[in-house]
Amino acid sequence: MGFKNDFVWGAATASYQIEGAAYEDGKGLSVWDMVCQKPGFVKFGDTGDSSCDHYHRVSEDVAIMKELGLQAYRFSICWPRVLPEGIGKVNPQGLDFYDRLVDELLKNNIIPYVTIFHWDYPYELYKRGGWLNPESPEWFAEYTKVVVERLSDRVTHWMTQNEPQCYIGRGHQEGTLAPGLKLGLKDVLLASHHSLLAHGKSVQVIRAAAKQPSMIGYAPVGITYIPQSNSKPDIEAARTAAFSITEKNVWSNSWWMDPVFLGKYPEDGLNLFEQELPEIGPDDLKTIFQPIDFFGTNIYSGKTVRMGKDGRPEEVKRETGFARTAFNWAVTPQSLYWGPKFFYERYRKPIIITENGLSNTDWVYLDGKVHDPQRVDFLTRYIRQFQRAAEDGVDAMGYFCWSFMDNFEWAEGYNERFGLVYVDFTSKNRIIKDSGIWYRKVIESNGNI
Ligand code: NOJ
Repeated sequence: MGFKNDFVWGAATASYQIEGAAYEDGKGLSVWDMVCQKPGFVKFGDTGDSSCDHYHRVSEDVAIMKELGLQAYRFSICWPRVLPEGIGKVNPQGLDFYDRLVDELLKNNIIPYVTIFHWDYPYELYKRGGWLNPESPEWFAEYTKVVVERLSDRVTHWMTQNEPQCYIGRGHQEGTLAPGLKLGLKDVLLASHHSLLAHGKSVQVIRAAAKQPSMIGYAPVGITYIPQSNSKPDIEAARTAAFSITEKNVWSNSWWMDPVFLGKYPEDGLNLFEQELPEIGPDDLKTIFQPIDFFGTNIYSGKTVRMGKDGRPEEVKRETGFARTAFNWAVTPQSLYWGPKFFYERYRKPIIITENGLSNTDWVYLDGKVHDPQRVDFLTRYIRQFQRAAEDGVDAMGYFCWSFMDNFEWAEGYNERFGLVYVDFTSKNRIIKDSGIWYRKVIESNGNI
């Protein structure tokens, strides 16, 4: 048993987190370029201005990917690098960069998995209302078309968007990610609806414009709940929690996944948000509900729940001293069992873990290497749970480690290191960590670890 033979192993990054070259070769500004200039927005005043300098190091980075034995590489396109004003005028140098990256990957037999949008929204469109503007889904469709027309002769795997819960919820309601807005729920739900419409239109554009058959997915956060025991009521409590909306925010699975995979908004959300719902046009859900090929999801940690006396899920307090990553996220390998299991039960699509990994206190040892046994242990535990899910019938299609290399962790700046490859952010030197060397063996054995 174990993973199927064509299971795909990769690692992931995102444009603003690694590229640098923020003001080069005709790139326009993104909302991340702007918030990084606001004192106090990002830890230590870090910015993505030069970051890992990946923009100038494509061949070096792809050579390292090859050394890690990656079969696939998930990266995102920086929208304002390609369209400096978000729509209209195309920046040929921006497209050339992604061309070079794709060619280099293919030359090394690494399959490109392209995320069309991973949070670096064009500032020029933000000034026109951004995701609140009813034209925003169309803008996204236009952008998708430019990318697909250029890359789809070589790229066959696409994800429309990454973690909408975060860039809408944290970016527009909590204000902790770009663009740093603290809007009321009414506006947040309007932005969410536009984001979902943008996803649907983007899928339509990929299908229509791609030069060859494409595999299309989506990569929302997978918020996971682990049953405290294997009793039926506890499992039911975890399942219920996974698909319930109980708070007035967009931090849920079903608000984002049900429209995309089932063609409707979840009833409990519609009831809870009754006063704040945007106008939903008669064909909107048809647009959002496009046939797609895989369910991508980013999973890192989960909460434990049990069935409460009132028949509702109840969160179980973690025991004192529970294992945590450097980011202080709980280490919960079973998230990679229960998350995929519940998502597969409800949505019936092949599952790709589009991100999973941990931040660790990595540094260069006296021997010049980066030893990160915690990462090896963490990933082993999580991958085994995903394998268990596959053995229990989940259609497991692939796994992407976050991240290929250390990078700019949004509001945390460079303070959190998630990479299989260490980056010295001053010299920009890379060192493959022990976990990177180990990951190669994971891939070679198809996850039999
Ligand atoms: C989710 C995001 O997609 C990615 O950008 C981020 O760096 C990782 N998780 C780690 O927080």
